[in-house]
Amino acid sequence: MKARVLSGVQPSGQLHLGNYLGALKNWAEIQSNYESIFCIVDLHAITVYQDPKELAEKIRETAALFIAAGIDPQESSIVVQSSVSGHAELAWMLTCVTPLGWLNRMTQYKAKAEKQETVGAGLLQYPVLMAADILVYQAKIVPVGEDQSQHLELARDIAQRFNSMYGDTFVMPETRLPAVGARIMGLDDPTTKMSKSVSGTNHAIALLDEPSIVRKKIARATTDSQPAVDPENMGPGVANLFTIAHACDPFITKNSVAGMRYGDFKKLVAEAVVSRLEPIQRKYREITADRGYIDSVLLEGQRRVLPIAENTIRNAKRAMGLYVANR
Ligand code: TYM
Repeated sequence: MKARVLSGVQPSGQLHLGNYLGALKNWAEIQSNYESIFCIVDLHAITVYQDPKELAEKIRETAALFIAAGIDPQESSIVVQSSVSGHAELAWMLTCVTPLGWLNRMTQYKAKAEKQETVGAGLLQYPVLMAADILVYQAKIVPVGEDQSQHLELARDIAQRFNSMYGDTFVMPETRLPAVGARIMGLDDPTTKMSKSVSGTNHAIALLDEPSIVRKKIARATTDSQPAVDPENMGPGVANLFTIAHACDPFITKNSVAGMRYGDFKKLVAEAVVSRLEPIQRKYREITADRGYIDSVLLEGQRRVLPIAENTIRNAKRAMGLYVANR
């Protein structure tokens, strides 16, 4: 039997190159070796306010981008988190075994909470729900970008604590980072991670940005005061552009860019990105031309994974002594 893979993306903001290189590209590459489940985590998105109409659109857009980026809906299950109630149900059970101190330590929570006027309790619970996403399917492998590492450690801690309190119930999940692109930085500021929630126009490259926009953004990306690329001594901006280029086109190597003037180097990076995104954008337009297609994929994904989640919920309930009907 193939090991199970689980990962997810929030349908908030615009999916960007960091999401692609850190997650989606890796998912597409490994999906055939595993039984893969890829979630659009709408329950995570609502931990900060989302415009309801926009959220409903974004859920479908994100699913279409999964497929456009190479996730094959025959091979992998594409699932909206809220369509399988086991995620939320298990999250509650796990909440009850999670010490508050563990949640207070999460760096993403601290960073996000700082930006909110009032902090919803869901924001603190966020990583418990994430643990539930993984554990409800007994996933073995979780392919993510580096920013999720701390959350995954917590997921393992929670699983271990549950298992030791109530008996072996959950498989211990492993983090799987991509070899290149685990942490793509902002173009405007290579010391901060490229993120959906940073609003600067030159911060992120959206997966649906047109070629002219991609070229403009990369031309304006922050570098340093050197005139040309020194592969042994790249500043953070140049190193980030190199990582992006190499991840998009493995033929671009440190040797091949050595000595290039920044202007020419940026053109090379831009063309590597444009060539990567072009087929994704074409596929996206094809998919979204058919209004019913995405809904049929999401319904099929839900149908496939529902029994797995229901089985885990039953086991977890039994383990805790919650009510399960005798049949
Ligand atoms: P999210 O929606 O912020 O990001 C989705 C995926 O993209 C990766 N990523 C990056 N990788 C490299 N460089 C970057 N700048 C960059 N920004 C984002 C993330 O690491 C992630 O893999 N909490 C998660 C979603 C989630 C999840 C899960 C993931 C919910 N439940 C269960 C795995 C398993 C999140 O907000 O990802």
